[in-house]
Amino acid sequence: MGKKILIRRGTLVLPHKRLLVDEDILIEDGVIIRMGKGIQDPQAHVIDASSLLVGPGFINLHVHFREPGEEKKEDLLTGSRAAVKGGFTSVVCMPNTKPPIDTPMVVRFIGYRSQEVGLTNVFPCGAVTVGCEGKNMTDFGLLKKAGIVALSDDGKGIQSARLLYLAFQYSRYFDLPFLLHEEDEEIAGGGHMHQGEAAFLLGYRGIPEAAEDTMIARDLVLALYTGAKIHITHLSTAFGVELLRYFQKFIPVSADVTPHHLLLTDQDVAQMGNFAKVKPPLRSKKDVEALKEGIREDVIEILASDHAPHTAEDKEGGFVDAAFGISNLEVAVPLYVKALVEEGVIDWVNLWRKLSYNPAQFLNLKERGMLEEGKIADITIVDPDTEWEVAVNQFESKGKNCPFDGWSLRGWPVYTIVGGRVVMRERSIVDGEFC
Ligand code: DOR
Repeated sequence: MGKKILIRRGTLVLPHKRLLVDEDILIEDGVIIRMGKGIQDPQAHVIDASSLLVGPGFINLHVHFREPGEEKKEDLLTGSRAAVKGGFTSVVCMPNTKPPIDTPMVVRFIGYRSQEVGLTNVFPCGAVTVGCEGKNMTDFGLLKKAGIVALSDDGKGIQSARLLYLAFQYSRYFDLPFLLHEEDEEIAGGGHMHQGEAAFLLGYRGIPEAAEDTMIARDLVLALYTGAKIHITHLSTAFGVELLRYFQKFIPVSADVTPHHLLLTDQDVAQMGNFAKVKPPLRSKKDVEALKEGIREDVIEILASDHAPHTAEDKEGGFVDAAFGISNLEVAVPLYVKALVEEGVIDWVNLWRKLSYNPAQFLNLKERGMLEEGKIADITIVDPDTEWEVAVNQFESKGKNCPFDGWSLRGWPVYTIVGGRVVMRERSIVDGEFC
């Protein structure tokens, strides 16, 4: 008989049923074997979850782990430690590594290395085009066989409409969804922040909303005609939400929003400087309100953080030369709690649904995203009440490029259990305790 864990006296979040219930959970050999009231098992290690929320492990559809090639910024060990510290039992890692995830060899390397690390589940996202250069398609079939779960050239929008049209048609043979970074480079014009009054006053070249919205509109039409499964990642504009709302009448398109696009605007760039430089750029208050409304109405069904770690050198110097990106994996959940739960946009159950059940459904991960007897024991436990400060110098991630340092937040993950192994306990990484 395997080792058992009994989680007692917690409030269970059941996002697939949209319910909260006061029950215990018994785990054995990596699987949830019982759920119910007053479970007793003298052989089990007991976790007391009084006044805590216990739900399916969080799944982040958008992270950059930088390995292979840019291990100075992040690697699969530090990225995985940051993930479980942040309550994420699964992540999808983007292909803009060096080399990119455009061959089966790189996909397999990430698979082997992340298993060796053995913390969070790492699902690689394959490149749509060779070298993420937007010119020639990769071999989707071979990449899928090696283990990719989705396709993207994230970091760049795919500029050629014809290439993407063909890629959408081709993807249907392999049932692979697209995670689309929407940016028309000609319209973006090499800009550095959102085009608006703040950019004008600071003297930086702006990135208009039209750079994102024209690509979203184009890709929704292409998906309509090809039947490709598409997801708009890091959505940032008000009109993007309108486009989604309209097209959802015809096709099952989904989208995600990052915590920074919900909590910051272009007005924050003046004070936060390079740490607020990100793609898509921090937009206006009007855009933030529209994103929240889209989340409230379930037009936006998924939350994903676009964890983009960079070295200090990449973020130093002038704003124009600094890299785009925010490191946020271990603070994403409390940031979403601040932006959405504390603001009354959605409740805890819906928040959890957008962080676990919905991304699991999107990726077709049938054994994850739910608390049910027989499912894999990927579980996150959150303390909804205690307030802690963001301390970037204590990040597991190598990326300290986070504009939220010093913010006081609630809703921190306090236990992360992956496949029945406790890998994070009381906000510290532990190596598979009680397993
Ligand atoms: O700000 C960003 N940084 N946006 C992206 O889409 C890519 C990412 C990165 O790779 O650093």
